[in-house]
Amino acid sequence: MEDAIEVILQDDSKVLPTTRSHPLVSACTGVVLTGLYGVWSLFALPGFRRIPWNLKVPYLPSSKDQTLNTMKLLEGRTGRLADLGSGDGRLVFAASSAGFRCTGFEINSILVSYSRNKARWRGLPSSQATFVKKDFWKIDLSPYNNVTAFLSPEVMGVLGEKLLKELPDDARVIACRFPFPDWPRQSSAGSGLDQTFAYDIRNVRSHLRKLSNTACVE
Ligand SMILES: C[S@@+](CC[C@H](N)C(=O)[O-])C[C@H]1O[C@@H](n2cnc3c(N)ncnc32)[C@H](O)[C@@H]1O
Repeated sequence: MEDAIEVILQDDSKVLPTTRSHPLVSACTGVVLTGLYGVWSLFALPGFRRIPWNLKVPYLPSSKDQTLNTMKLLEGRTGRLADLGSGDGRLVFAASSAGFRCTGFEINSILVSYSRNKARWRGLPSSQATFVKKDFWKIDLSPYNNVTAFLSPEVMGVLGEKLLKELPDDARVIACRFPFPDWPRQSSAGSGLDQTFAYDIRNVRSHLRKLSNTACVE
């Protein structure tokens, strides 16, 4: 019996040769992956140390369709616009060409410099497009009647509370890809990963008031 098992094991080792990689190859792979992570985190995460873990959102640029969908939901609107986490500035540039006075808040200094240079290169005056290197959680957003946010599902609930406290009644908020969990949307554009959602703050407040009134009656 033992002989039979040995024969099977010997046969298996022939059929399924062990693919143990050379230690040097493993070490090199480790070094390359660590290096790639270092480069990625340099561009995607600087300035994040002071932000709590649950509110960290890395850089990921909007797609062309996502930007177009955002602009569709802003049609007919004017005034000041804040992009929360402006990345390379693409949403700010699209909104400023539609006539908005835009401010992009961005924590990543490399992306802020890139956006500022691009704005200068395009000849945009700061009244049309400004990039501020600041944590948007610490900014009073009450001067803005338009807000765009492409962030992450984890932060949308907390962000909703901040916006409800600060924004004027006539403000519109566009959430890119990730909707607010408890807000009734006004409309949406696109589908899948490029979908964007529009919310009018007056309607959101009145919906949430009705909800809390019915909860009190019950
Ligand atoms: C998913 S990217 C979106 C970039 C850009 N809005 C776009 O649509 O292409 C999110 C951006 O938010 C920035 N960010 C994350 N948390 C931030 C914070 N607390 N304050 C300012 N910027 C922040 C990140 O650095 C990143 O560039």
